[in-house]
Amino acid sequence: MDTKKIDISTSIKKIKLSSCIMNASGALCSTEQELNKLLKSSSGAIITKSCTSSPRKGNMNPRYFFCKKYGSINSMGLPNLGIDFYLDFFEKKKTKKPIFLSISGLSKEENFFLLRKANLSSKISAVELNLSCPNILGKDKKNNMINIGYDSYKLSYFLKEVFKLYEKPLGLKLPPYFNEIHIKNIAFTLNKYPIYFVTCINSIPNGIFINSTNESVVISPKKGFGGIGGKMIKPFALANIRLFYLYLRKEISIIGCGGITNGKDIFDHVLCGASAVQVGTQFIEEGLTIFDRLEKEFISILDKKNYLSINNFKGNLKKNLI
Ligand code: SIN
Repeated sequence: MDTKKIDISTSIKKIKLSSCIMNASGALCSTEQELNKLLKSSSGAIITKSCTSSPRKGNMNPRYFFCKKYGSINSMGLPNLGIDFYLDFFEKKKTKKPIFLSISGLSKEENFFLLRKANLSSKISAVELNLSCPNILGKDKKNNMINIGYDSYKLSYFLKEVFKLYEKPLGLKLPPYFNEIHIKNIAFTLNKYPIYFVTCINSIPNGIFINSTNESVVISPKKGFGGIGGKMIKPFALANIRLFYLYLRKEISIIGCGGITNGKDIFDHVLCGASAVQVGTQFIEEGLTIFDRLEKEFISILDKKNYLSINNFKGNLKKNLI
């Protein structure tokens, strides 16, 4: 099998990734050790854990649970080392990999503060602004940014403010939407702004996993409710990618995220319109070797289909059953 000619590089506007496969924010990308490992891995880019202005411990444990058959549930609550740690970490590193800084201020003002800081860094290729964390508790919930992700008027007003103070490449990590009209409205809003990319989708909020043996929930925060990720959210990720691909301006790239466990899942995301993919739950479970495995499986599918690059089939999902 001659796979040498197959190129799985991609670009998110002007940002070039040697491979279209990267980690998802939150998956093994919070600490110095985890980020150092990611730098050495074959991922096409690195994204950090969503950070806040100060370090956060996050929600109480247990706050993550994995089930092989379905996927994961989490209510992490944004545990992170604070923006200064992430900016300082990359300031000292030399790498050709694009670096995406995920930020998740708990209020508009905190996000403006984080964006101003990110603006000053020469090492950050883009910011992924997380508008979709479903796990914020107590007093922090007051300003919850997830409301902005679900409200196109609030989103438009917020982005207007953002682009007054932030000049670098910006992407948005979006929550899942379940109706075409909602995606159409959000896309219509995003099309008015110089957004580089959207990442679809964050975990599906407010699910519960149950342990039937002891008749209880499996994570502690929020009475057991949390964001659902992994295998079982793939159809929702694909639907969101597809509809955003149809409604967004073509200059706005889509990064697919949700339910990737093998090369076929990557193929499906790209076929729906994704320019790159992020792997979360399966990366946490499998570790760094996942990038080589996924790359091999994805290239083997392209080889069988005689595709030489992702541009040969990106977005070409057929509308009718063949
Ligand atoms: C978390 O830290 O609670 C997860 C982050 C997210 O879902 O955006």
